[in-house]
Amino acid sequence: MMQALVLKGRDVALETRPVPEPKRGEVRVRVTACGANASDWEFARGVPFYGRLARLAMRVDVIGSDVVGVVDKVGEGVDLTPGTRVVADTFERFGGFADYCVDKAARWVPLPDEIDDVTAAALPQSAAIALTALRDVPAGARVLVNGGGGGSGPLAIQLAASRGAVVTGCDSASKAGVMERAGASRIVDYRAEDAFELGPFDRILDLYGTRSPARIRRALAPGGTYRIAGGPTGTLIRAALARGGVGVLMVKQGPAAVTEALSLVSDGTWSPLIGETVPLSQAPEALRRMGRGDMAGKLVIRVG
Ligand SMILES: NC(=O)c1ccc[n+]([C@@H]2O[C@H](COP(=O)([O-])OP(=O)(O)OC[C@H]3O[C@@H](n4cnc5c(N)ncnc54)[C@H](OP(=O)(O)O)[C@@H]3O)[C@@H](O)[C@H]2O)c1
Repeated sequence: MMQALVLKGRDVALETRPVPEPKRGEVRVRVTACGANASDWEFARGVPFYGRLARLAMRVDVIGSDVVGVVDKVGEGVDLTPGTRVVADTFERFGGFADYCVDKAARWVPLPDEIDDVTAAALPQSAAIALTALRDVPAGARVLVNGGGGGSGPLAIQLAASRGAVVTGCDSASKAGVMERAGASRIVDYRAEDAFELGPFDRILDLYGTRSPARIRRALAPGGTYRIAGGPTGTLIRAALARGGVGVLMVKQGPAAVTEALSLVSDGTWSPLIGETVPLSQAPEALRRMGRGDMAGKLVIRVG
């Protein structure tokens, strides 16, 4: 049996589960670290509403999808060697906050020696969000990352700043430091000031969107684009139906994004800003803290 962080009502709890067996084409990893995402907490709470829909559709028990560990056992037809350090975005299966995690072999990407487990665990989903939104941002572009101090924002800010963009980061005042360290040249406290009045912006990545398309368009420069990743379901629907540069970010998660993220860490573009690292035994309380917004930067759970 193994320890696992599972969904329990509208909360999470540590329980024991059988160690999963890899089937043909699958790999079992002994987990060493797993990054936490807002989506883990959205699953647990069922808020925003799409969190409840995803929970019903996916029937997840053990959460956690930014998984790092060591290959422990492989199914038939897999040529990954036991002992190899790997990282995966297990976004269709989850299962990462546990002693062992199984997913398809194609999901697991070998981890270079120079990247430590906690750094790697901070990457998969947040890196995919940043890359999808801002991989091609041109030098000199005026970029707003709204919700920029949480789990995913700092990587997005780092990426845009490394491309020569001029970045405004907006979030709670307690997250000013993490946005500044990530490379934002202007910091906005969303409770004190409206960042959308400080435009025009060529790109807006909104990690917690609350505004109407009409309001957003007024903050965009001619030809500018706005992409929302998270926020109340109604705001997401309105953005999905909007035109004129406003839309939903369709994040491309998976091994290609993980591989690209690892190379950006290796070449020094990215240095994930870790908010807290806690052992699995403290994961329930740490996730609740993250859910309350008391976490600047990434939460990573250490396992084993
Ligand atoms: N579209 C896709 O394909 C896709 C794929 C993966 C993930 N996602 C979604 O993308 C989002 C990822 O964000 P994340 O991991 O960075 O979440 P996060 O860690 O919760 O960060 C969001 C930040 O936004 C801040 N915030 C809340 N209300 C705000 C407001 N009105 N104005 C400005 N900032 C505000 C929060 O601060 P406080 O809590 O301190 O207020 C928090 O720091 C999640 O919702 C996830 O579900 C989307």
